[in-house]
Amino acid sequence: MKKIVVLSGAGVSAESGIKTFRDSGGLWEGHNVMDVASPEGWTRDQDLVLNFYNERRKNAIKAKPNEGHLIIAELEKYFSVTVITQNIDNLHEKAGSTNVLHLHGELFKSRSTLDPNLIYDIEGWELKTGDTCEKGAQLRPHIVWFGEMVPMMEVAVEETLTADIFIVIGTSLQVYPAAGLLQYVRSTVPKYIINPNMPDIPGSSNLHLIEEVGSVGMKKVKKILLGEGKK
Ligand code: OAD
Repeated sequence: MKKIVVLSGAGVSAESGIKTFRDSGGLWEGHNVMDVASPEGWTRDQDLVLNFYNERRKNAIKAKPNEGHLIIAELEKYFSVTVITQNIDNLHEKAGSTNVLHLHGELFKSRSTLDPNLIYDIEGWELKTGDTCEKGAQLRPHIVWFGEMVPMMEVAVEETLTADIFIVIGTSLQVYPAAGLLQYVRSTVPKYIINPNMPDIPGSSNLHLIEEVGSVGMKKVKKILLGEGKK
């Protein structure tokens, strides 16, 4: 079975009603990104950060996967599929994808501020000041903030190196190290880039640019993949 690796970003969830980052003028739901997505922001105003992610969680609970997510999940019938997502929502999982690697963390998980190995599921939408880990330390969102390490990057590189087909969907390719993954794809591997507003792709071979929204783009890619050399 051939292996597909999908790199997804905020754009794949846009049709599910979740706003992208860079399409909203540098603000993230009305906030300066560094106030709500950095260790300094957390130190400055913990409640602001907790409330910000609580609101994101409320939205994400209501959101449904769209055709783009669903087709990516469906491809598991024909291929081995690894999804590497920069998104913190769980729409790939809701769509049925079984192998999802969250590079930037997960909205529905919390983590101890004392011991980063203590990670918990968040039931419902709320994480509050006073919610603590089993060692008594405050819990924080399990999100990779600006200025923090990307612990899943090594696994993501391993996956990318072994891809037979690479799909990039709904990302502006502006945030590193995630954007750098493209450089690890073998030169002979076809790379499908789906984006209605195509970003610059740094010197890469075998590119197929599909200037469409995620659902339409994935339909096209599915057709190509199932028509030519499946499995
Ligand atoms: P961006 O907001 O930077 O880019 C979203 C991309 O999706 C843009 O290139 C849009 O053109 C495209 N897009 C918009 N609507 C679309 C649709 N319906 N279908 C397909 N594509 C569409 O989001 P990311 O590239 O994911 O990091 O941003 C990367 C990281 O920057 C995020 O993970 C986040 C952010 O700051 C952290 O929170 C650490």
